[in-house]
Amino acid sequence: MEDLEQVILDTLGSAGKIDSTLEFALEKGVEHQAVVGVFKSLLTDAYAAQLGETTDTEWGLTEEGKNVAADGSPEYLCYCAVPAGEEGLTMSDLQAAVGATINKLGLGPCMKNKWLAKKGDLVLRTADGVIDTVADMLRKVDAGAYTEVPDKELQALKKRKMVTMVSKKVYSVGKGANYRPRRVKKVLELTREMLVKVEEGTPAGRHWSEVEFKKVNLNSMGAPVGGGNFHPLLKVRAEFRRILMEMGFEEMPTSKWVESSFWNFDALFQPQSHPARDAHDTFFMKTPAACNSFPEEYYDRVKDIHINGGFGSLGYGEGAFKMEEAAKNILRTHTTAISAQMLYKLANQEGGFTPKKYFSVDRVFRNEAMDATHLCEFHQVEGFVADYNLTLGNLIGTIRTFFEKIGITQIRFKPAYNPYTEPSMEIFGYHPELKKWTEIGNSGMFRPEMLRPMGFPDGVRVIAWGLSLERPTMIKYKINNIRDLFGHKADLPAQRNAPIARF
Ligand code: PHE
Repeated sequence: MEDLEQVILDTLGSAGKIDSTLEFALEKGVEHQAVVGVFKSLLTDAYAAQLGETTDTEWGLTEEGKNVAADGSPEYLCYCAVPAGEEGLTMSDLQAAVGATINKLGLGPCMKNKWLAKKGDLVLRTADGVIDTVADMLRKVDAGAYTEVPDKELQALKKRKMVTMVSKKVYSVGKGANYRPRRVKKVLELTREMLVKVEEGTPAGRHWSEVEFKKVNLNSMGAPVGGGNFHPLLKVRAEFRRILMEMGFEEMPTSKWVESSFWNFDALFQPQSHPARDAHDTFFMKTPAACNSFPEEYYDRVKDIHINGGFGSLGYGEGAFKMEEAAKNILRTHTTAISAQMLYKLANQEGGFTPKKYFSVDRVFRNEAMDATHLCEFHQVEGFVADYNLTLGNLIGTIRTFFEKIGITQIRFKPAYNPYTEPSMEIFGYHPELKKWTEIGNSGMFRPEMLRPMGFPDGVRVIAWGLSLERPTMIKYKINNIRDLFGHKADLPAQRNAPIARF
């Protein structure tokens, strides 16, 4: 049927009503369900009204009945498989031809109908050109014309589990309050064109007063919004924060990304000629390119130790320290720049130095080639303990406790070099899934060349360590490429749905 809706509207227009949706469907040769669907849709816009409702029980097909209506009855299929003439078919060949189930169900009725007969081991045809009345009857039932099938036959089909009684709602339908001969599509949105006054001579758009708007349910709840989840890095950061606070560390303020070379490198006794200070490794600021407010006396002491050395160091020599270099603004390459400023404060606070534990978790920048494990920006977790007479044993113990708490229980240390720590140790953790030791951090005791110009009293030692936030997060969330975690290629839905797993 071309447009069932229009046919129903036309019928309502000419006859005023439809007495029975079922009879209407039969008459038009369409499915009753389709008529009911259109009727319900017309009802919502009051084009139609419900005059009455009756429940009608009628015969319908079972799954088995549907199969037979489509493929033929088992007896018909058996009959067709046996060739005409004296040759016949052996029992086992017939079964092979139609399958065990059809053979079992079809052979009995075939004998009863005298379509086939057994002769010795053979099955022979005993009728010519039989008609599959069972399938024909089922097709009638399927079309809703079950009244054309004798009751006795329906009962027999029911016994064979091919038909069953089904009940359906039948409606009588009248015109609704909004009845119109054609359905006018309701408009969902008010557009600019509907509001603009049409100038004379221009083709007229439909004015808002001429269209019918779809009703909006202002009380509906709306679909739940899926946003507002934490990024995996934030989740891991929250966990690290909790652990560090539990261990008695306080968080340092890290909210500035631009740092002077002085605090990022010079305060750490990193020579101005150090290769890491090259534009290949560090991002330099264009504006403001320089910063030149440093604590004056401290600046002088840093300059002095760079040139002349001290505490066993020879220094980097005359001309090795220039304000021009120290003043250069850069994007901080490590959060140790923050630690340095905190340590300077600690050494110069009112009332003098008191032992402290500090940590930070924030972003750092390196001018590096990007690959699967390196980005130009990443996050560092850093902690330090400043106290009298600390030893390497304290450093190892603190690091072990921290990593144990984040779930990395097997730790190894390897001697390393940093310009600002001595001794320095790389930290390796055992990855039980990869079955391998991987580098997870760096650590050391800050050198007196760094601490003493800050004004720390003799005997104060500072142990410190740092690691990236990305590495443990990648292990935890089983991410192989850092770009899947951070940056514009990160797959947010995947992260949102990632299960919370412990590493
Ligand atoms: N700043 C070091 C880095 O960027 C980490 C570190 C921190 C090392 C503290 C020693 C002490 O890798």
